[in-house]
Amino acid sequence: MAVTIKSEREIELMREAGKILAKTHNELEKALKPGMTTWDIDHLGEEIIRSYGCIPSFKNYCGYPASICVSVNNEVVHGIPSKKRVIQEGDIVSLDAGVIYKGYHSDAARTHGVGEISKEAKQLIEVTRQSFFEGIKYAKAGNHLNDISAAVQAYAEKFGYGVVRDLVGHGIGEHLHEDPEVPNFARRRKGIRLQAGMTLAVEPMINVGRPGVRWLDDEWTVVTEDGSLSAHYENTILVGEDGPEILSLLPSDEEKA
Ligand code: MF3
Ligand code: CO
Repeated sequence: MAVTIKSEREIELMREAGKILAKTHNELEKALKPGMTTWDIDHLGEEIIRSYGCIPSFKNYCGYPASICVSVNNEVVHGIPSKKRVIQEGDIVSLDAGVIYKGYHSDAARTHGVGEISKEAKQLIEVTRQSFFEGIKYAKAGNHLNDISAAVQAYAEKFGYGVVRDLVGHGIGEHLHEDPEVPNFARRRKGIRLQAGMTLAVEPMINVGRPGVRWLDDEWTVVTEDGSLSAHYENTILVGEDGPEILSLLPSDEEKA
């Protein structure tokens, strides 16, 4: 599949999809409390998304059974919500969600600390978030895709962290997953040249320990091989002539960066 350049109309719809997803994440962050189950989070998330007239894009995607991926501590991504999994004070919880608005997708993830968390966990969350911002500095026309990837990796590795290799970001638009793949690590080849109007989901997945991951028997939940903590931060962005526009963050959230 070729990488598509979105029209102004498509970009407008993706802006709306992104804004709704940003609001959904903010509402979920506020609601996140010890004692909730991961099922409660999913249930609330689905309600919020539908209240905006959107469809949760993950639900039944390739058989995934929920609307929000909830991944706790050593879980990297794609945790399946469960009534048996209770969130505890001190946990770090990665929430990944996608919405469809008038046929167009947005995709975003955040990792939150619950109550008091360790200094190690706090730094991991902050560095993962910042690695996204370091990467997207290169999201402008004329640069190569690999410039984004290399910048994410260089920043995270400065802290001794392991950058997950087995999962990558992606193009996004009419489909949740479009070309190109967006790795969080440098490749020998430069990748495609970026053009204004490309829309990408950039999503660093960073481990305190080694980069290696494995899949649990549920065939979805990805965990760190070494059991170390992992964080995830993702936004849907638009590549512009002069730099990126982050579609799945509200301007007021960006100021906190
Ligand atoms: N944000 C995830 C991704 O980009 C989507 C979760 S996959 C699903 O791959 F199956 F859970 F939807
Ligand atoms: Co994604």
